[in-house]
Amino acid sequence: MNRNSASHTPVTIHSLNAVLFLCCLVVAYSVDARPPEQSWDNLCEECHGEYAEFAGKYMWVVGDRLEGQHHKTDLPLFLKNHYIPDHEITAMSQMLANHANSPLRFDNECGSCHGELAVFMEKSIWVRGESMTAMGVGMEVDEYLKTHQELNENDVEFYLKLFSRMSE
Ligand code: HEC
Ligand code: HEC
Repeated sequence: MNRNSASHTPVTIHSLNAVLFLCCLVVAYSVDARPPEQSWDNLCEECHGEYAEFAGKYMWVVGDRLEGQHHKTDLPLFLKNHYIPDHEITAMSQMLANHANSPLRFDNECGSCHGELAVFMEKSIWVRGESMTAMGVGMEVDEYLKTHQELNENDVEFYLKLFSRMSE
């Protein structure tokens, strides 16, 4: 009798451990493996809508830093206190960064003729509140851009947003 139970006990503990271990693996795996797109749909979409559209409207990559339209240098701290589990912040920030706006677009599309964005703005763009004047040509920037370089409506919207952000 005694010998029997003595030989059973270790086996039971052993298999219990194995089961616990497997459970932990499954839980850890499913938490880590959740793609950021799915987390967004579960945790963020109800307030913010579709992630690519949100990022295109409100997110910026300036240098190598992700910034919000309103939360700039304090974005990481803000996100830590804003609905996102800590271990998902990196993946979700990367996802937003992939769809974010960037001043680099000016370098690529306009820089060959206009040089550096900051210098160009200083010289050519007069921002007062909502209104922006292109000083060289003496026109409102939005009116001018519609006639310039075959820019479409989305391009014009992007550059207006860029000039306005860079002048803040
Ligand atoms: C209950 C509604 C709600 C949910 C859910 C929510 N947010 Fe927000 N979020 C807001 C509000 C309101 C603001 C603006 C608050 C502020 O600026 O202080 C905001 C601001 C932000 C900003 C800053 C934007 C900027 O312009 O600087 C980011 C980035 C953001 N949310 C990401 C997320 C992510 C990622 C999730 C999901 C994990 C999420 N939010 C879930 C309501 C929500
Ligand atoms: C091929 C050269 C070239 C490219 C590329 C170019 N521009 Fe221009 N841009 C010009 C020239 C030339 C002028 C001056 C036009 C004039 O004086 O009538 C100008 C003027 C402007 C002005 C008015 C500046 C002022 O002082 O009034 C703005 C704003 C502007 N460009 C924005 C852009 C943006 C944004 C892009 C990128 C999408 C861009 N440009 C790409 C050549 C270019």
